[in-house]
Amino acid sequence: MGQTPHSQEPATGATTLPGVGEGARERVLSGMQPSADSLHLGNYIGALKNWVRTQEEYDAYFFIPDMHGITVAHEPTDLRERTHRTAAQYIAGGIDVGRSTLFVQSQVPEHAQLSWIMTCLTGMGEASRMTQFKDKTRRSGTDAAGVGLFAYPMLMAADILLYQPHGVPVGDDQKQHVELARNLAQRFNHRFGETFRVPEPFIPESGARIYDLQNPTAKMSKSAESPNGLLNLLDTDKQMAKKIRSAVTDDGTEIRFDREEKPGVSNLLAIYSAVGERSIDDLVEEFQGRMYGHLKVELADVVVAALGPVRDRALELLDDRAELDALLARGAAKARETARPVVAEVYEKIGFLPPAQD
Ligand code: TRP
Repeated sequence: MGQTPHSQEPATGATTLPGVGEGARERVLSGMQPSADSLHLGNYIGALKNWVRTQEEYDAYFFIPDMHGITVAHEPTDLRERTHRTAAQYIAGGIDVGRSTLFVQSQVPEHAQLSWIMTCLTGMGEASRMTQFKDKTRRSGTDAAGVGLFAYPMLMAADILLYQPHGVPVGDDQKQHVELARNLAQRFNHRFGETFRVPEPFIPESGARIYDLQNPTAKMSKSAESPNGLLNLLDTDKQMAKKIRSAVTDDGTEIRFDREEKPGVSNLLAIYSAVGERSIDDLVEEFQGRMYGHLKVELADVVVAALGPVRDRALELLDDRAELDALLARGAAKARETARPVVAEVYEKIGFLPPAQD
């Protein structure tokens, strides 16, 4: 017993796993479900741009949680296509596969292995309190939901704990799931001996939150009521410009940042600020005395200039699926180097025989 890499560690969550030793960069991990044909501006600003920044400083793992994608009814061809598209957009948006580890969840079998163990550690009551599950089953009731939807947070805990990250950059809506991962890590450590690092959620500032262009008090989401409210990363230049020009604005004429009184204009300013990398104050000053129309026209140019090349690069990557698959296979192999010893240690601690070699 105790010959695995980090079993003699003190109970501080410190670890000697590869790359997380002294002097190594701290680690982050995150993922976005491949549930749409394109990422939208909210995903880009709220998540992807933020991830791109973290990879400068952290040893970053980004993945595509396709196993989460089957927790609701799905089309197999859509899932595979969306997995490719999501990967292509991550890379086109700035994820550097030389520096960070980019992979598809289902290609790393350790996720499924650890997920079962996390599921067995989770209480029914605890899982029943997950607000996302309650939201997703509100309409049709829990009897109509698959058990996988219920087990979704335990799979997510496995996703996280396998890589021993310091931080997990997620939106507000995922905070409770990261909290569960923390609790499960602590529970495992307490019951079976110090094993997992207890990760912190990294929640981006609320400034990064992007709202629906047609309904600017609702978060931009793929389930938008009108497709015009949703700006997609893979939209054509023309579609992007049109959606911005037809964005809903507010009463009055003044351009200022006020989420309560002026949600439409404030959303446009927030988008401008994030995409154009300028402060809101600076923009408000520039647009003083000018009209909503001016803001929209200029913003459309800024968005097309920034996102057009990202889209083009993503489409280029999607033109060579064999190359994209090869790149993802390399990412999965890299991810497994980190995940495999963790599963081996967990197997030993809970009394399984060693994992089969493959
Ligand atoms: N549940 C996350 C979402 O819907 C995706 C996800 C799955 C994830 N596993 C994760 C995010 C692990 C961060 C870490 O966006």
